[in-house]
Amino acid sequence: MKVIQICDAKDFVGEEVEIRGWLYNRRSSGGVKFLIIRDGTGFMQAVATADNFSEDKFEAIEKIGQESSIIVQGIVREERRAPGGYELTLKDYKVLQNAQGYPIAKKSHGIDFLLSHRHLWLRSRRPFAVLRIRHEIIRAIKDFFDSRGFIQIDPPILTPSACEGTTTLFEVPYFDRKAYLSQSGQLYAEAAAMAFGKVYCFAPSFRAEKSKTKRHLTEFWHIEPEVAYATLDDIMKLAEDLITYIVERVLENRKEELKILERDTKPLENVKPPFPRITYEEALKMLKEAGLELEWGKDFGAPHETYISNKFDKPVMVHRYPAICKAFYMKRDPKDEKLALCVDVLAPEGYGEIIGGSERETDYETLLKRLKEFNLPREPYEWYLDLRRYGSCPHAGFGLGLERTVAWICKLDHVREAIPFPRLIDRIYP
Ligand code: 4AD
Ligand code: MG
Repeated sequence: MKVIQICDAKDFVGEEVEIRGWLYNRRSSGGVKFLIIRDGTGFMQAVATADNFSEDKFEAIEKIGQESSIIVQGIVREERRAPGGYELTLKDYKVLQNAQGYPIAKKSHGIDFLLSHRHLWLRSRRPFAVLRIRHEIIRAIKDFFDSRGFIQIDPPILTPSACEGTTTLFEVPYFDRKAYLSQSGQLYAEAAAMAFGKVYCFAPSFRAEKSKTKRHLTEFWHIEPEVAYATLDDIMKLAEDLITYIVERVLENRKEELKILERDTKPLENVKPPFPRITYEEALKMLKEAGLELEWGKDFGAPHETYISNKFDKPVMVHRYPAICKAFYMKRDPKDEKLALCVDVLAPEGYGEIIGGSERETDYETLLKRLKEFNLPREPYEWYLDLRRYGSCPHAGFGLGLERTVAWICKLDHVREAIPFPRLIDRIYP
């Protein structure tokens, strides 16, 4: 007998097959027993009628607990009304481990309970949909860069220096010294761009974020392209193409999952170039008109980003922020030294920043000056300064936060659902 996966059921209509999985749910009605089986690729209803079983075996179905591991055999039938469109006429079953008292019942649980049971919650329909979309996004990102000749470079996780400011550094003992968990692979991506031209990092980043928000994890996955000889405009175009491609791929390959999440796909179908581009100055004006006045020089907070992103039906690119609210490595705008040649991409539907990027300072003396201005010690950056000593050239790149992208595309309330095992200020279990 063929062992099949639920996602392939459509190719086996009329055939007797075996499916290996778990009991997701069970009910009976009018002498018929319905078992929802899940196998990781989908959910499928198996229908048991008394005539296919001995009396004992038929009645024993009632004793199979939720999430028991089970192997079922039966005939695949097309059934429009069944979830997924196919069902199994059950011929035989074997329970491997009968699970009793599974903690995640049908009734709705609070988020704390679910997060504490994340190792089990992963099996539910919603995480199934979200994490399969996450995987599609990961594949789309890799395909995007790989097909454009980018080389993936894996940056170190243990680092001697800060990339994104010293306030969110996680310090770890490193033998008789101190090290930090990487906040960004960027500085290493810059070194690699000087060696390979077009590169990207795909790695976890760590931020000791002390505030509880819907957008911050202490550990997130970071995709950071870096391109030699690229300008701010070049990477804005790159970001636009990347986001467009990601959304296209999810719409194309994860229809079922979007349906499970009841995601309205209209706003996603809208995500096509060109994305609006506005300056920080223009954004500030919009905020002022809305009564969300912000002092020039301050970075946007969540309410500001939410407001601006709600104003557009596509991702919006805000460029040229005041240099004082951005990172030390950003190149200044030659037309106005107070501005950084940088961009934040804000996702629509109120999601806010999913990408931050910039052109990088290329001049050795200027970079040295910036380190001083930002109170950063020189020694850990000596290697980084070398990149300006030997063959310095214009270059630019950006960082895309994977979980924020997943949260937006899946329309989640919080990034914690966008990663298998979220790490938050008050949560490191399971
Ligand atoms: O804007 P950020 O801090 O930029 C950098 O780290 C640059 N070094 C990137 C680069 O140019 N190579 O972070 C980039 C993105 C943000 O736009 C956001 O999507 C995500 O990383 N991010 C977070 N995601 C979840 N939780 C957090 N605490 C995050 N911090 C940043
Ligand atoms: Mg940022």
